Parts: sequence; structure tokens; C-alpha cells
Amino acid sequence: MGKYIENRRKPKREGKKIKVGMEGDVPPGRGATVKLKDGTEVALYNIDGKFHAIENFCPHKGFPLADSRTYGNIVECDLHGYRFDVRTGECFTKKSCSVERYDVVIEDGWIKIIV
Ligand code: FES
Repeated sequence: MGKYIENRRKPKREGKKIKVGMEGDVPPGRGATVKLKDGTEVALYNIDGKFHAIENFCPHKGFPLADSRTYGNIVECDLHGYRFDVRTGECFTKKSCSVERYDVVIEDGWIKIIV
């Protein structure tokens, strides 16, 4: 990826469903950092009651996207303003900076991310 930083905390794709919290733990319009047992991280968002998960890492300089502000389905990196769609991981600022997305399911009130 050229001058961009590699995400060393990107979860391995294993098709595993991981329970990360209860629906009420993440208020609407907010992002949360989900730290998995192996130290990898996912950014989880509640957008109007729908949950989305992407890499917790801005490929530009590595800022954690879970800590950045959301505007509807868009998260804007707080450091230099790169914008991502939380539903797809697509980066609108620079296509090559798109991040991975993860499926999120709700079961009995539990949020589960498929890594
Ligand atoms: S670290 Fe520069 S835009 Fe995210």
C-alpha cells in the first residue's frame, strides 16, 4: 500500500462469530472500540439502531476510526478527515484506503461480529 501504514491489529478472517457486548452498550450515533482477545481491534458503530463494524484503523496514518465522528453512515477520521462508509468500509477520500468491513448480527440482545 505504498506510504500507507499496515494495520497490525487487523483481525484474521476466520468466519468466527464473536460476542462483543449488549445492544445497549453502544448508544446510537456512537462508535466503540472492540478489542478482541488476541489484541486485534474492530470499530463498531450504532447508526440509528443498526450495527456496523470495520477495521479500527485509518490507512492514512493509523488513527483509530472508532474514536472519530460519524455523520449518518459516514465516519470521518478525526486526524486528517478521510471519510469512510461504515456499511462497506469504502474510503471516499481515496479508494485505495478502503478498509475491511465485518458482518454484525444481533442474537438475544447480544452484538456478535463475524471476523
Ligand atoms: S490518519 Fe490521516 S486521515 Fe486518518
